Amino acid sequence: MIRAFDHLTLPLLRKLDPEDAHRLAIKGLRSFPMPRAKPDSPRLATRAFGLDFPNPIGMAAGFDKNAEVPDALLRLGFGFVEVGSITPLPQPGNPRPRMFRLEEDGGVINRMGFNSDGAEVALRNLNARRGRGIVGVNLGANKESADRTGDYVKLIGLFAGVASYFTVNVSSPNTPGLRNLQQASALDELLARVIDARNRARTETGAVPLLLKIAPDLTLSELDDVVHVARARGVDGMIVSNTTLARPDTLRARGLALEQGGLSGRPLQRLSTRMVAETFVRAEGAFPLIGVGGIDSGGAALMKIRAGATLIQLYSSLVYKGLGLVESIKADLLSTLRRTGRDSLSEIVGADAAMITAEEWPV
Ligand code: FNR
Repeated sequence: MIRAFDHLTLPLLRKLDPEDAHRLAIKGLRSFPMPRAKPDSPRLATRAFGLDFPNPIGMAAGFDKNAEVPDALLRLGFGFVEVGSITPLPQPGNPRPRMFRLEEDGGVINRMGFNSDGAEVALRNLNARRGRGIVGVNLGANKESADRTGDYVKLIGLFAGVASYFTVNVSSPNTPGLRNLQQASALDELLARVIDARNRARTETGAVPLLLKIAPDLTLSELDDVVHVARARGVDGMIVSNTTLARPDTLRARGLALEQGGLSGRPLQRLSTRMVAETFVRAEGAFPLIGVGGIDSGGAALMKIRAGATLIQLYSSLVYKGLGLVESIKADLLSTLRRTGRDSLSEIVGADAAMITAEEWPV
């Protein structure tokens, strides 16, 4: 059913400007009742930071920035949905065009710049939800904010009642200076304040888990610092990774590769997998990881899990393969479990991390 839907809609969406196609997809998900995916096999169930996920595949941040369609996405088979990045105040983001498809490469470049309807609209949408699935809230700062840390703190207070988890996003490349918050002393101060805010905003179900999302462009010594600070401050998990500013030599869409912004999709796959493995060996089991970057098949999902990801997310590959991809990744993961006689994916999390981190650097 979902595949038939993809078959009808993908060729049309691909003819449109990428941002128009995205808006139409959101509108479609809002307007039409989505078919409900088959129930998940219990073997795909995953527990992380105190939450029970029916399957480990999540929609990455950036698709549903204003929390308009989380329940439609959950119905379609995602194990969880991350909405946002949400900024406290509405802001338009960068001028269009600001999203580009690198068709030959299976990649996307975006410089959206946190276009957001603002916290009030997203909060209204989340309060109106009737579904019960896991929805994480990805937090961003307004471009013109005089106190970016204050923006994250404010959002935690506002969203604590509706967020299954929070993601502190300090890794989007399209808000000038934002990535500087990954630098050790700035990050330490930021995490101290947001974790304090999170602890003060405890709900009846306890403290909301708080994750940190990082860029794939950190050096390994910067990553040492980031993981050290994240462990010392007691974050509940990390998301690895956001889009990259790098432009691999292998890109075939040479013209579009010159567009400014973050690159995602297949050209990010290798680098993000390496960063997952590097983060996994540094975290030493202190917290679980969500692996994201270029996942476009069951094989790519498995690579992220074997590199150290307990959960995975995807976005760009949906542009090329449609929402049926989620079902096909789940089927591939299950057949791998069956073939290798394992009961759950947790048995292979990080199995390849040592091997991957021993490879040549930079990737
Ligand atoms: C993103 N991504 C993103 N991440 C984030 O933390 N906040 C955001 O607002 C956005 N916005 C956004 C917009 C667009 C158009 C894209 C393509 C991506 C990054 C996204 O969540 C993910 O980390 C990367 O895209 C890598 O995963 P994929 O796309 O290769 O599966």
